[in-house]
Amino acid sequence: MNPYETDELVTQYMAFHYGDSYFEVENYPAKCAQHCLQLMANEVGVATEKALDLGCAVGRTTFELARGFDEVIGVDLSHRFVECAVQLKEKGSLEYSTITEGQLLTPCNAELTELHLDQQRSKVRFYQDDACDLSDHHQQYNLIFAGNLLDRLQDPKQFLNSIHNYLMVDGILVMSSPYTLLEEYTPRENWLGGYTENGKVVSVLDGIKEALAPHFVMINEPIDVPFVIRETQRKFQHTIAELSSWKRIK
Ligand SMILES: C[S@@+](CC[C@H](N)C(=O)[O-])C[C@H]1O[C@@H](n2cnc3c(N)ncnc32)[C@H](O)[C@@H]1O
Repeated sequence: MNPYETDELVTQYMAFHYGDSYFEVENYPAKCAQHCLQLMANEVGVATEKALDLGCAVGRTTFELARGFDEVIGVDLSHRFVECAVQLKEKGSLEYSTITEGQLLTPCNAELTELHLDQQRSKVRFYQDDACDLSDHHQQYNLIFAGNLLDRLQDPKQFLNSIHNYLMVDGILVMSSPYTLLEEYTPRENWLGGYTENGKVVSVLDGIKEALAPHFVMINEPIDVPFVIRETQRKFQHTIAELSSWKRIK
């Protein structure tokens, strides 16, 4: 079963996107969106009409991007994640539970008004779709954000080779990932890096640069963006993603 369809990950991601922060680490989906909006502000002449959030999960980055874009589309493969995001768009709030310990749960409520995101509801749409096989109506975005998606794909190289088709020339691609390189998601032969070849170290960032080179230049040095996912009241995943930004040049 796809783990992103389970109760466990639905509650974890609802809390990750809309719940408390831990260990003084800022809300990751919001932080990534702020970074994207700052980049758009710095890139003179790039419009902020349409953005695409690929692997949007339960939707926080999609809503956050709508603070600066006229329209934002969130796409995720998980039916249950998209269902949560759609509920939030339609009703403005969604109840969920987090795991305290074992079968003990704590009820929680995600409220868009509390996050000052109520105004953004009319600007977002969510679809269950495959980021590696997007329908034809996904065209001409000014920004594409893919948060922690790359290391969940079967063939990330193929994704990177085709992503320019959905962006305008001069449009911006932002990707974050902790490069976890798990064979259950990405078979070893499809890894972008994380190995040595002819005695030379190949990092995932090297692999991304090579795959994007025909259509993109990197803008700014990649930055570290930490995040914390709460599993139970006593267990947390503390991870550091690398966020890189690219401009489509042809
Ligand atoms: C590690 S989670 C990251 C979610 C979100 N961007 C965040 O940072 O919280 C990976 C997400 O990508 C989604 N996903 C995996 N493969 C996908 C694909 N081929 N197309 C669209 N979404 C996919 C999963 O359902 C999951 O929501």
